[in-house]
Amino acid sequence: MSATSPAPAAQSGFDGDSVVKVTNLVAGYIPGVNILNGCSIEARKGELIGIIGPNGAGKSTLLKAMFGLVKVHSGSVVVRGQDITGLKANKLVTKGVGFVPQTNNVFAALTIEENLQMGMFQRPKDFAKRFEFVADLFPELAKRRAQRAGSLSGGERQMVAMGRALMMDPAVLLLDEPSAGLSPVKQDETFLRVHEINRAGVSVIMVEQNARRCLQICDRGYVLDQGKDAYTGTGRELMKDPKVIQLYLGTLADTVE
Ligand SMILES: Nc1ncnc2c1ncn2[C@@H]1O[C@H](COP(=O)(O)OP(=O)(O)O)[C@@H](O)[C@H]1O
Ligand SMILES: [Mg+2]
Repeated sequence: MSATSPAPAAQSGFDGDSVVKVTNLVAGYIPGVNILNGCSIEARKGELIGIIGPNGAGKSTLLKAMFGLVKVHSGSVVVRGQDITGLKANKLVTKGVGFVPQTNNVFAALTIEENLQMGMFQRPKDFAKRFEFVADLFPELAKRRAQRAGSLSGGERQMVAMGRALMMDPAVLLLDEPSAGLSPVKQDETFLRVHEINRAGVSVIMVEQNARRCLQICDRGYVLDQGKDAYTGTGRELMKDPKVIQLYLGTLADTVE
């Protein structure tokens, strides 16, 4: 029998440790065409959640739907007990949700510091305090604060994008493929940073194409397939599950001890 199981049925009622709870989400870009077909995931306090799955499974759509960028047809997104389904992105940042899209996630013409200020436009008074938090996690951003984001490498831009999302003190950070397009060394560094962000008290939901690395560092993972959560379990359980290996991880079988 496999160690993982289909995601449990949605439960009602708020449990104090739940940071984000997505229940039976149905969403899509065009009326009548659903990309998410009843997707349920949850992140609890302090958890690092990994989401993997084949191309086109709906991973990016899930994050966008959670962040109010894709129309939700039914189902719900609850953040810290509050139903935020369908709220627009600018409202969501004040409700504790931060989002780093996969591409175009920095303002290239602005400096690092100006990028971080953009993350705070709704709470400019708190800039110094939040800047200190972000500078602790990313000292190199603080040192190079006057440099234009457009002149940075891919890995550095990813840090600016994460730093900007952290400026609003999110309870949960949604990351869409933070390692995409980076060299192996920079990928490792990015995963390390994500881990540090998580250890600093921020719950993280990370979509990753690098499934193996993602499952190695996450507390729990979900495999998305055709707009649904097909499997869930701890990162270790998913890495060892023969069905998950066969369907989604390919040659990973050789690399699990
Ligand atoms: N802006 C869009 N308009 C219409 N369809 C889209 C759009 N973005 C993605 N899709 C479709 O939604 C499906 C899931 O895409 P996506 O969420 O990007 O998958 P993943 O991130 O898992 O690779 C795909 O069939 C894709 O073609
Ligand atoms: Mg995607």
